[in-house]
Amino acid sequence: MLAHSRIATVSVRTAGPFDLGRLSRLHRSCFEEAWSRSDLAHLLALPGGFGLIARLHEGGFYGLDALRGVGFALCRVVRDESELLSIGVLPAQRHRGVARALMRHSMERCLRQGANVMFLEVAVDNLAAQRLYGEMGFEQVGSRPDYYQRADGARVGALTMRCDLVQACGVLTPAG
Ligand SMILES: CC(C)(COP(=O)(O)OP(=O)(O)OC[C@H]1O[C@@H](n2cnc3c(N)ncnc32)[C@H](O)[C@@H]1OP(=O)(O)O)[C@@H](O)C(=O)NCCC(=O)NCCS
Repeated sequence: MLAHSRIATVSVRTAGPFDLGRLSRLHRSCFEEAWSRSDLAHLLALPGGFGLIARLHEGGFYGLDALRGVGFALCRVVRDESELLSIGVLPAQRHRGVARALMRHSMERCLRQGANVMFLEVAVDNLAAQRLYGEMGFEQVGSRPDYYQRADGARVGALTMRCDLVQACGVLTPAG
């Protein structure tokens, strides 16, 4: 089996109405509870809602392979606040900086659209995501017991995290 090339470039674009199938497949690959095309269409149609899709270019932008869609993020801006509704990366393409790129683009876009803070919820046992968010400048500001219900019926709590976008985007490498 070929190992992943270490030389890979991530590009991020806005998801449009033709991406609902792709977004739904990506979401299903990342979460037990899949969101349907109509769930996703509803979220993208909310005032201030937008989606992003990440592509991975093997060998840099001029390499032969550009994988079509390896990750996604869904966000919403309401006045001066924003929320990360969901983020996920295909299991085979993790640990390559795709989520970090999606987070950076999401945060910068929300800032440009007038938000100065971003909130999110993350399961208490999702240590990978918590580490990612911490690295991007998020801090825990609350907790919600039994917030999620897993496919087996078990309930798991969530942490609410908050990020000051003005401060965080000032120290992040600008999104291309
Ligand atoms: C969480 C998730 C989005 C990370 O995607 P990714 O593309 O692999 O993340 P990146 O490669 O950009 O990693 C960025 C940082 O996140 C943290 N991180 C990512 N995966 C991690 C893991 N398995 N364990 C610990 N830290 C991890 C690290 O700090 C990492 O930085 P490093 O590579 O310098 O160590 C991905 O694992 C995923 O899709 N999980 C399932 C869906 C999910 O849980 N979404 C979040 C719901 S709140």
